[in-house]
Amino acid sequence: KQNILQDTFGREHSYLRISLTELCNLRCTYCMPAEGVQLSPKAHIMTFEEVYTIAKTFVEHGVTKIRLTGGEPLVRKDVDVILKKLATLPVELAISTNAVTVDRFIDTFKACGIKNINVSLDSLNPEKFNQITRRNDFKKVYENIHLLVQEDFKVKLNAVLMKNFNDNEIIDFIELTKELPISVRFIEFMPFDGNKWNKEKMVSYAEVMEIVNSAFDENTVIRIQDAPNDTSKNYKIEGYKGSFAVISSVTNPFCDSCNRLRLTANGRIKNCLFSSTESDLLTPLREGKDIEPIIQKAVQAKFKIRGGMDTLEKLEEPKLHTQNRSMITIGG
Ligand code: GTP
Ligand code: 5AD
Ligand code: SF4
Repeated sequence: KQNILQDTFGREHSYLRISLTELCNLRCTYCMPAEGVQLSPKAHIMTFEEVYTIAKTFVEHGVTKIRLTGGEPLVRKDVDVILKKLATLPVELAISTNAVTVDRFIDTFKACGIKNINVSLDSLNPEKFNQITRRNDFKKVYENIHLLVQEDFKVKLNAVLMKNFNDNEIIDFIELTKELPISVRFIEFMPFDGNKWNKEKMVSYAEVMEIVNSAFDENTVIRIQDAPNDTSKNYKIEGYKGSFAVISSVTNPFCDSCNRLRLTANGRIKNCLFSSTESDLLTPLREGKDIEPIIQKAVQAKFKIRGGMDTLEKLEEPKLHTQNRSMITIGG
């Protein structure tokens, strides 16, 4: 039990999200500012051996699930090597991707036992997709989502909702689940450095459900059981092959059941998505020091709710956003 990563609120941390790179092949507006972000010097990014060594330490302390994120994890040149090394650990491996290049990795995913793939797709309209991502890859992404389904991966589609932009597509997204056995998840837009968040731009869980309930007969909208430590509140339309859900980190945080820690591409542990403090693991690792005490200390410092931003008022303070990173270097 000593070994387990338990915080001062009794939460056990068995899920590690590793950001493999700060780079991305898209430029989503909610994730990064147009001018880009200050990148870490290359020498400060974990090598594949370092990713493995740090991940192994977490696994030795009770981590059973690792999700790879970015930036876009698949733009990293040695991502195959990293996946294959991590696949030797006794963990469930998963990945969150924009799916632009997913078709090149099907065999690697299978060889590494990866089953769960979460894909970002914020609009079903190619022009809007271009507007959000500032790139022209809708067709590729849309085809790759179908490819993943055909190849039997468990796919969750993530759509960050923005008021008067894609909130008119909620029903179209749900209609996708009629024939596709995927989970479409609507995400409340969250504040990070450089994404110009304000609460008026956000579409809340309550608003999503209002739209759903006015489009479908009440008896056909079924609340389904959430998996343990799920980020989402899950539903389905009766008779549809897939399901839909809302991730309501703003209006309805799920911090009480949080089991997540994060490792940034430059080797820092982040104890919460919203935490503004991080602890460097990479430098001590390179100096041959034991990183376990640093990990334990970081876990002990975890706040109860959203890195200390426990109210909506606090979430609205721009000063607190700039103390955190841009989402592109956190990885969701
Ligand atoms: P599963 O492993 O399938 O549960 O995936 P996930 O929903 O945790 O991960 P994904 O990368 O698909 O992220 C979907 C959304 O959930 C993104 O907006 C993330 O920022 C958000 N999210 C993921 N983990 C956390 C978390 O610990 N706290 C909060 N507040 N949001 C999170
Ligand atoms: N608010 C909510 N979700 C976000 N993501 C990225 N930035 C934000 C934000 N500001 C989501 C992306 C991706 C997931 C890993 O994080 O949609 O699918
Ligand atoms: Fe966990 Fe922080 Fe997310 Fe809450 S906001 S669920 S504490 S990572």
